[in-house]
Amino acid sequence: MKTTLFTENLTELRTEALIIGLYDDCDSSDVESYENISDGLISDIIKDKEFTGKYGQISIVRTKKAIKRIILLGLGKRNEFDLNKARELAGKAALFVKDKCVKEFSFLIFEDLMPGDAAYAIVEGTKLALYQFIDFKTQDLEDFKQIEQFTLVANGNNFIDIDKAIKKALVVSDAIYYVRGLQNKPSNIVTPTYLANEAIKLARRFQIKCTIFEKKDLVKMGMGGILAVNKGSQHPLKFIVLDYNGGKETICFVGKGITFDSGGISIKPAADMDEMKFDMSGAATVFGIIQLAAILKLPYRIIGLIPATENLPGGNAYKPGDIIKHYNGKTSEIINTDAEGRLVLADALAYTKNYNPKVVIDFATLTGACVVSLGDVYTGLFTNSNELANKLSEAGEKSGELVWRLPLHDKYKDYIKSNVADLKNAGPRDAGANTAAVFLKEFVQCKNWAHLDIAGTAWTKNGKDPIRPVGGTGVGVRLALEFLENWKK
Ligand code: BES
Ligand code: MN
Ligand code: ZN
Repeated sequence: MKTTLFTENLTELRTEALIIGLYDDCDSSDVESYENISDGLISDIIKDKEFTGKYGQISIVRTKKAIKRIILLGLGKRNEFDLNKARELAGKAALFVKDKCVKEFSFLIFEDLMPGDAAYAIVEGTKLALYQFIDFKTQDLEDFKQIEQFTLVANGNNFIDIDKAIKKALVVSDAIYYVRGLQNKPSNIVTPTYLANEAIKLARRFQIKCTIFEKKDLVKMGMGGILAVNKGSQHPLKFIVLDYNGGKETICFVGKGITFDSGGISIKPAADMDEMKFDMSGAATVFGIIQLAAILKLPYRIIGLIPATENLPGGNAYKPGDIIKHYNGKTSEIINTDAEGRLVLADALAYTKNYNPKVVIDFATLTGACVVSLGDVYTGLFTNSNELANKLSEAGEKSGELVWRLPLHDKYKDYIKSNVADLKNAGPRDAGANTAAVFLKEFVQCKNWAHLDIAGTAWTKNGKDPIRPVGGTGVGVRLALEFLENWKK
């Protein structure tokens, strides 16, 4: 979809559809300036109360003029309107327009917000909503026709800001499309080797450093967690390290890269097991963050670390009762082979100490328990730093990718004490997200570490949220960008 900015008078605009946002309780005086483009049709439906401006309401008016359709979009109460609502409503309106089978449409920039911010939210919301995953569709392709042209309409003044905002929103959306594409592809395509090749491609494209560690390297380094989880799989494991060197301060992002999680010997039920292709979502997010950092030239050294393997049962698979040794020397007793994420993350988190990072953040579809607590509204946040908690929560509010802090109390360590090793990889059902986080903490040295449990937010089944179509959401990219732009300012 081509995105352009139109700064001339509305009477000069020719378009299939123009979206105009109006606040709650609007009356015909609010639309006086649009009378000439609509032959008075807009004020008619407002006078008749067919359209009131209630949040999320959409009405369409067809004209015989250069603007063929005017789409009124209800913004809700003026004093409650913000950028998160702008993004979501833009997405909703874009989906409505797409349904009308037009190839192009236009969006009148919202008033009352900073023009650059409004433009950013509209472009981002539109792009996120119009994402489609059709790589494997071969039939009825006309049902998936994409909108080809999108025009943001803004009056003159701030168009340098607006233009910059549009460009940035496109770069960010591209990164999210990239992440969603990786998430949505199935595990027979996205193997650990596929992820490693993606990393190599990224590294070539942006001239960043990339190291792929193989099984033999992990044996030497003593990464018993990744090695154990990989034992049941026919696909070779990869431990991927991307090193973008854009500044002095180092920030590590670790992403869980389980390309398929069957549960292993502690096998999962068949229902919904297909969704476990998404268990590499943390890894995909880290790729997206690295891509963005390179394009936007963020002023940090950013290390992306991705332990990648499948978790499958098999004759050589790791088993309940096994004891393994991690990179930092600590031992785990395997209670449940389905608690594999913490095992691979343990090695990767321990490995971050080699970079002496200021901040370590991991993204992982780690626990069903987190989905039970927070659903698809909040990502679970566990951290040893109040500062990081505040900064990430703020970044969540601003980006719309919400995070909610959950406790990392030492008492949860009692839940995962083992009789035979240092730790058990699974405790009782109680506080399942917390015990997983406390397990990870045993492998972290950094004073600013945050674990983001994205099990509930990484993908959606229902698509009820316009900017999160069914499938991978790309969660974490917008959050991380907002965080990085405000960390140490
Ligand atoms: N990848 C799953 C977590 C998951 C489950 C994410 C459902 C999203 C939806 C993880 O590896 C897992 O299986 N966790 C277990 C841990 C348990 C065995 C201690 C879980 O949450 O049930
Ligand atoms: Mn599992
Ligand atoms: Zn898993």
